Amino acid sequence: MKIRCLLLVALWLCALDLGSPSERCDDWGVDTMKHKPVYNGEPAKIKCPLFEAFLKYNYSTAHSAGLTLIWYWIGRGQDIEEPINFRLPDNHISKEKDTLWFRPALLNDTGNYTCMLRNTTYCSKVAFPLEVVDKDPGSCVSQAIRPEEVLMYLDYTNKNLTCPDVEGFYPAGTKPKVWWYMNCKLMDNFNERYPRGINLTFGFVREAYQADYTCVVSYKENGRDFNLTRTLRVKVVGPPDKATVPTIISPNKQVGYELTPGEALEIRCEVQFTFLKDSPQEVWWMVDGKSPEDVSDLKFNITLTEIPSSLGEMTIVKTLVVPKVTERDLKRNYTCCAHNLKGTVHQEAMVKMKVPVPRYTVELVCGLGATIVLVVLLTLVYHFYWLEMVLFYRAHFGTDETILDGKEYDIYVSYARNAEEEEFVLLTLRGVLENEFGYKLCIFDRDSLPGGIVTDETLSFIQRSRRLLVVLSPNYVLQGTQALLELKAGLENMAARGSIKVILVQYQAIKKSKVKELRRAKAALTVIKWQGEKSSYPRGRFWKQLLVEMPVKSGRTKSSGQEQDFAQPPLGDV
Ligand SMILES: *[C@@H]1O[C@H](CO)[C@@H](O)[C@H](O)[C@H]1NC(C)=O
Ligand SMILES: *[C@@H]1O[C@H](CO)[C@@H](O)[C@H](O)[C@H]1NC(C)=O
Ligand SMILES: *[C@@H]1O[C@H](CO)[C@@H](O)[C@H](O)[C@H]1NC(C)=O
Ligand SMILES: *[C@@H]1O[C@H](CO)[C@@H](O)[C@H](O)[C@H]1NC(C)=O
Ligand SMILES: *[C@@H]1O[C@H](CO)[C@@H](O)[C@H](O)[C@H]1NC(C)=O
Ligand SMILES: *[C@@H]1O[C@H](CO)[C@@H](O)[C@H](O)[C@H]1NC(C)=O
Ligand SMILES: *[C@@H]1O[C@H](CO)[C@@H](O)[C@H](O)[C@H]1NC(C)=O
Ligand SMILES: *[C@@H]1O[C@H](CO)[C@@H](O)[C@H](O)[C@H]1NC(C)=O
Ligand SMILES: *[C@@H]1O[C@H](CO)[C@@H](O)[C@H](O)[C@H]1NC(C)=O
Repeated sequence: MKIRCLLLVALWLCALDLGSPSERCDDWGVDTMKHKPVYNGEPAKIKCPLFEAFLKYNYSTAHSAGLTLIWYWIGRGQDIEEPINFRLPDNHISKEKDTLWFRPALLNDTGNYTCMLRNTTYCSKVAFPLEVVDKDPGSCVSQAIRPEEVLMYLDYTNKNLTCPDVEGFYPAGTKPKVWWYMNCKLMDNFNERYPRGINLTFGFVREAYQADYTCVVSYKENGRDFNLTRTLRVKVVGPPDKATVPTIISPNKQVGYELTPGEALEIRCEVQFTFLKDSPQEVWWMVDGKSPEDVSDLKFNITLTEIPSSLGEMTIVKTLVVPKVTERDLKRNYTCCAHNLKGTVHQEAMVKMKVPVPRYTVELVCGLGATIVLVVLLTLVYHFYWLEMVLFYRAHFGTDETILDGKEYDIYVSYARNAEEEEFVLLTLRGVLENEFGYKLCIFDRDSLPGGIVTDETLSFIQRSRRLLVVLSPNYVLQGTQALLELKAGLENMAARGSIKVILVQYQAIKKSKVKELRRAKAALTVIKWQGEKSSYPRGRFWKQLLVEMPVKSGRTKSSGQEQDFAQPPLGDV
């Protein structure tokens, strides 16, 4: 390509140069295609490339047409063409037909050699480079000369490696002496490899025989010894019958790609190719059956790595990278495809969306929070409504304890005989407990018969009552005898027989009492506090608290307030 351009430019320049016909010449530039350095001191030849590549006729037809072939050269580091001196003392350069001979080529011969074919009206020329190098010190070759590569199939038998580019130097029919070297080591009694003249026969081809093989061809010409050194690079490859379709190592069915949107998806398409001469080795990605470039909203990159391995095998890795996958990308079909002359294979990558892992901590906290809230709520509900709950329970499931216990009164009221307390007991307590809740109260001063012995009667009353309601006030302790008698009797009954229950209602706050029984009672029993106005409302807390302490009575409803509803006969007047 480069040369053609050069040639075109050259032609164009020639066309411009019409003014001076004698100078006009088709210049094909420098033909570097077959350029190959030669060793210093070894024979070399340059065949004028005009006849092979650039002109339609060969040397003999051109010669007979009256055209002459002239050689020029430009030495290294020089800038003018000069004719070749064929009359050098050593006569080492000569021309034969279309070929320029060097017997031998010397370092100073390095340069570009131009052959020009012309008559008076026609001219055409092309240049050819000659590079003469020394062998590397201590080596049989020079690194400057890249050896030609020769393929040999593994396990093949009786294969000949023929020393190249030596024909034409020595007369046909003569048998030159040939030395073979493997990596510059003279081959003498080598395993399975036999030097046979210009041929090196491989009895068996093994991978270990992959190396650079150098032949040195030695011949005599006109009494002089000449050497030709050539090197071939043998590459041992897998034989054609072992070649297969490409093998896809990744993706596979064992490795899946599970991602959450936003993460980077990176899938390797790793394919192994066996050696297959002149075969394409193609690896490509398909996304949803299309080339990734044709998938409009897919942002991706593809990187390529080629890893050659033994026997001409090749691993090609094409990594598809989607820097930020979307949910949609995770639903696509990513397929890796590979092709060689043996066929086409493909393998789908298992890409899927990661199922969100339950956020245990969050749920735990939520659950715990909910539980705590529930507990708090229940506690609050219980705290504020336990009275109602207890009362509700009692109203529906409580057993009537008043039946057959042989008692006449529900409540014996013990209080300080003082105007204020009396009013509270007779009006408030009695009013609500008897009228609203239907309990039968025993109030000594109201219910006792005149003339009886106070003590006996008090004890008798208390024994016939289910509850002893003590109205506590500073006066209760002070005033004493009657009230304290009642308290002691009640507590004694409760402690000894459990036949009565003492209820403490604190009408007025009292200081620490000197009465031992009262102190004990206060410590052991709940004290229901009267809070004045606030407590007077019959459905209020005070009364509910009080009700809970009261005996369960069936057939008694809050709303009725009717004496007739009582299961028990009104014995109060006995
Ligand atoms: C040169 O070409 C002519 C005709 O094209 C052919 O007859 C002749 O054999 C050729 N000579 C060589 C040396 O190739
Ligand atoms: C090469 O050329 C240089 C000068 O151009 C000369 O001095 C030298 O002797 C030459 N060497 C040979 C081997 O001809
Ligand atoms: C021969 O010609 C090529 C192309 O013009 C140039 O690159 C190269 O240096 C030349 N070689 C010598 C030895 O002058
Ligand atoms: C020169 O060579 C060309 C091409 O072969 C030919 O056409 C032309 O007649 C020749 N001219 C002379 C004067 O021989
Ligand atoms: C060298 O081997 C080739 C085949 O590989 C054969 O055609 C040729 O005759 C052999 N040459 C000699 C000189 O044995
Ligand atoms: C290889 O070359 C040897 C001699 O160099 C020859 O006898 C033999 O036939 C050749 N083998 C093949 C397969 O060409
Ligand atoms: C040719 O090569 C052989 C072997 O490498 C060597 O012994 C001999 O001296 C060489 N001859 C010439 C003229 O370089
Ligand atoms: C994915 O695409 C490949 C070819 O592009 C096809 O063979 C395969 O059946 C598709 N898989 C699904 C699940 O569509
Ligand atoms: C992907 O390619 C784009 C442009 O082609 C480039 O800007 C970006 O850095 C690349 N990302 C990676 C991860 O290679």
